[in-house]
This record gives sequence, structure tokens and C-alpha cells, in this order.
Amino acid sequence: MALVRMNELLVEAKKGGYAVGSFSVANMEMVLGVLKAVEETKSPAILQIAEVRLKQSPLEVIGPLMVAAAKNSSMPVAVHFDHGKTAEKISESLEIGFTSVMFDGSHLPFEENSALTAEVNALAKKYGATCEGEIGCVGGSEDGSEDIAINCTSPAQALEFWQSTKVDALAVAIGNAHGNYKQTPKLRFDILEKTASLVPVPLVLHGGTGIEPDDFRKCISLGIHKINIATATFDSVENSVRSAYAEGKIGGYYDLQASEVDGAYRNAMKHIEIFGCAGKA
Ligand code: 13P
Repeated sequence: MALVRMNELLVEAKKGGYAVGSFSVANMEMVLGVLKAVEETKSPAILQIAEVRLKQSPLEVIGPLMVAAAKNSSMPVAVHFDHGKTAEKISESLEIGFTSVMFDGSHLPFEENSALTAEVNALAKKYGATCEGEIGCVGGSEDGSEDIAINCTSPAQALEFWQSTKVDALAVAIGNAHGNYKQTPKLRFDILEKTASLVPVPLVLHGGTGIEPDDFRKCISLGIHKINIATATFDSVENSVRSAYAEGKIGGYYDLQASEVDGAYRNAMKHIEIFGCAGKA
């Protein structure tokens, strides 16, 4: 199956009533761990990296690795540029072969967000790639450097945004936030349901880390078909390494590497099962 466009996965997910996990990765071990889970569960998946993370994982290094790993997979895997902020990096990701890009103009005034997102969508289409936009404002920030307040999506504005941008997928803000939640989030299912009744494309849930399994399932039943998971992957990798050391399982570098892969693998397995996408490839 190999590298596919993100839109193909999301259209199938909408038809089938499940969500595709979009897993943030920072190195080869995380890519290998996610793809091991994908192969084992026969699931579609998305590998993603956000623009703010390029300080640690340069796009020109990790980008080709992500694309090559997706091509090498026997399952359908899309490669997505998450929270794109600059035209330069969005173009670079498309040149590398990413099959999807997000433009995050959620902090901008509505008109500006719409206009810039429409431009990015037009660029993505030249590459045959998918485009995701965001309306409303998801809380926190992708790398934890800012504490952005949640600004819930207005369903009417979401429709207007979609009509003027024609994005393939739309990220909504329904009380979700990036990073570990200080308390269990109370998601606004009413906003999600209304938005999904107006906007015809698959909706995206950011800030997946820490959302309860039943809340994930409810979101999926109401129109979410892509779920972003970042912090949970990083935490799972770190915890896996810590436990392996504590249990005396690390005898050298390659044991360390294996425990990183395992941390990413176990986190992906857990989410794939909750999202209902196992066996859907
Ligand atoms: P978490 O770090 O909360 O999982 O959020 C991931 C995300 O939404 C990336 O765009």
C-alpha cells in the first residue's frame, strides 16, 4: 500500500465510522515503533511532524525518512506536515513528498486565516496533497512553549471558513488542548455535532493526549476522523526507556534503541484500538 494521500484515508474513515491516528514523531525509532503497530494491526495511519518541532528534528533530515518509511510500509500511510506556519516550510515539506499539510492560522483574524489557508490549499493541490485548516483555537501549544487559551469553534464560522477555503479536513476546538491536561477535559460535543452537521469534510481532533477512551469514541461518532497524538508518544518513549533502565534491561545502545521503538509501538497500539481503525487498511 505504502505512501498515500491523507484525504484517501479520511474519506474511508468517514465512511467506516472510525478515526485514523496521526502520530507525531521526532526520530527514526518513533517512526519504526508506530509502523510496527500499523503492520501488526493492519491499520491505516498518518505520520506527522509540526513546524515548531523542526528545531530538534530538521525537516530536510526527518522528512525524507518519514516519506521513505511510509513507502516501505505494506499498510496505507500518509505523511503530514502539522501546524504549518510558514510558506517556506510548507513548500519544503511538499517538495520532500509529504502527502498532506496543515496551515494553522487559528490565532489570526478570520479573514486572514481563510485567505492564507486557501492559498496553502491551492499549493497543496499542485502536489496532489491534502490540506487541513483550523478554525477556533485549540489550547496550549504543540511544543508546550505557550499557554494558548482555548477558543471554541463557532459552527457557523466553521462553515464559512470551509466554504472559502475548501480544505479537505478541518481541525476544531471543542475544549481540547495540546500537552497533558491538568484535569480531564470537558469536551463540547454539542459544538462538534453542530459543526459536523454543517461542514461536509472530516473533522480533526488535536490534543489527543489524555482524552478518555469513551470521549474519543463519542467524538468519532460525531464526526472526528483524524486524531492527533503527540505528547503521549513522547511520554511513552521516555517511560519505556526509564523502566528498561530501572529493570536492568539496557546492556548497551541497541537495547536503548529497542526500548524507544517499543515505547512508540505500545502507544500507537493503544490508540489504534480505541480509534477503531485496526483491520481497516
Ligand atoms: P497532544 O500533544 O496533546 O497529543 O496533541 C497533539 C497534537 O494535536 C498535534 O497537532
